[in-house]
Amino acid sequence: MAESEARSGPDSGPRPAADERPVTGARGLLVVGAAEVATLAGGLRMGTAQADPAIAPPGTAIACLDGRIVAVAARAAASEALAAALEAGGRDPRAIDVLDAAGGTVTPGLVDAHTHLLFAGSREDEIAMRARGGTYLEILAAGGGILSTVRATRAASEQDLLVHGRRWLGQMLRTGTTTVEAKSGYGLDTVTELRLLAIAGRLAAEGPIDVVPTFLGAHAVPPEVRAAYPGDPDAATEAYVAAVIGEQLPAVAAQGIARSCDVFCERGVFTADQARRILLAARALGLEVRLHADELAPSGGAELAAELGALSADHLGAPSAAGIAALARAAGLARAAAAASSPSAGGPPSSSPSGRPPSDSSWSGRPVVAVLLPMVPWFLGLDAREPARDLIEAGVPVALATDFNPGTSPVTSLPLVMTAAVLTLRLDPGEALVATTVNAAAALGLEDRGALVAGLRADLVVWDVPTHAQLPYWAGANLARAVVARGRLVAGGGAG
Ligand code: NIG
Ligand code: FE
Repeated sequence: MAESEARSGPDSGPRPAADERPVTGARGLLVVGAAEVATLAGGLRMGTAQADPAIAPPGTAIACLDGRIVAVAARAAASEALAAALEAGGRDPRAIDVLDAAGGTVTPGLVDAHTHLLFAGSREDEIAMRARGGTYLEILAAGGGILSTVRATRAASEQDLLVHGRRWLGQMLRTGTTTVEAKSGYGLDTVTELRLLAIAGRLAAEGPIDVVPTFLGAHAVPPEVRAAYPGDPDAATEAYVAAVIGEQLPAVAAQGIARSCDVFCERGVFTADQARRILLAARALGLEVRLHADELAPSGGAELAAELGALSADHLGAPSAAGIAALARAAGLARAAAAASSPSAGGPPSSSPSGRPPSDSSWSGRPVVAVLLPMVPWFLGLDAREPARDLIEAGVPVALATDFNPGTSPVTSLPLVMTAAVLTLRLDPGEALVATTVNAAAALGLEDRGALVAGLRADLVVWDVPTHAQLPYWAGANLARAVVARGRLVAGGGAG
């Protein structure tokens, strides 16, 4: 018999992070018995395609080996492909474990494209402050909010931060997340920002969740810089922008410990002009760019993301109509550029999303992914909601993320975010699944995951429901029956 049943038994949670076994186990894994396999094949989606989860024919199985997907096909064909791959590598073709999805739904591992994973302390006191009428930005301006987390984070040891990171990554894993973006931004000085990014790198190396680090030095102006410019907050902000560009970014780039650079572009925090300067400096140093755009008020963030061809424009709780139009133009231009990408017709289009002539250094040629974070307005008690339908109808690709952070979203569950998106942003379940898999991977610039396609990373989830349409419906239930990361069973299904 070529296949042996994977271990079964009570859910004992994810394997401890200290497990040093190589991710690329010698045995193959065959996932069978799903009522539905949502492959998400076909790449980044926008417009009407956003709703298509690419459901495979009934009876589809997924074969995994050495951390990658080998085949997505009928069971016999998938099993044969796996045996052939084992044999080609000089291994026993019978060395196959079978994971029985037992009538559940199989999807790619979820991708959380926006979190502030690494911080110390908690801020439950701000809920009461807001209940008494204080606003998020008033609390920040008074030295609380992000700045109180900065104080706690600077005081925390590396070990404290590692323990915190493992704790919350473990929570994310249990609800089906296999890739997490993690921003710095609670250091606001070179030493602590570098420390946070290095810890993100250590957590990525430990696994099983992959952690993708983002530098967010421009998250707020730190207290020592404010104090140096008494009564002149604008001068303080300018001085800090100069430090981010002149000191922090070069140090981050020299160590190669961040994939992208983010800025909190918001009225009263950093202006679009300051964000542009920081992000262009980051791009010149080889980093991808993304931004917190128009979270609370229209601040020119969506327009800037479109102008730069950022990987993503995140939040968009209150974008201007011009901002949505700029993102739509960016998506349209990217589609046109892709369609015309034969060697003779290649090159950037003749006008940029902002109407300026594009320069090779400031336009990426990719659509900007709108990363919506619906737990934030809910948690802050705001009435405004992200204009998800307007964005989708305008052809802008949409992703969803938790924004896990101590101030505006202490939420780790992407299925819960999907529920919020369906109920409050009027996404349909297929759109929400696209937004937490293939489009979320694109928002991180990752093409090797987010879909069940041969050659991609073997990250997948078996859900305890017969169709993806039920994922957002059982609000708050943990439906992840088994989580597989890089071909290994890491949570549920008898893992551990
Ligand atoms: O995405 N808005 C800026 N950053 C976070 C909140 C950070 C905090 O409050 O600690 C956000 O909402
Ligand atoms: Fe955020």
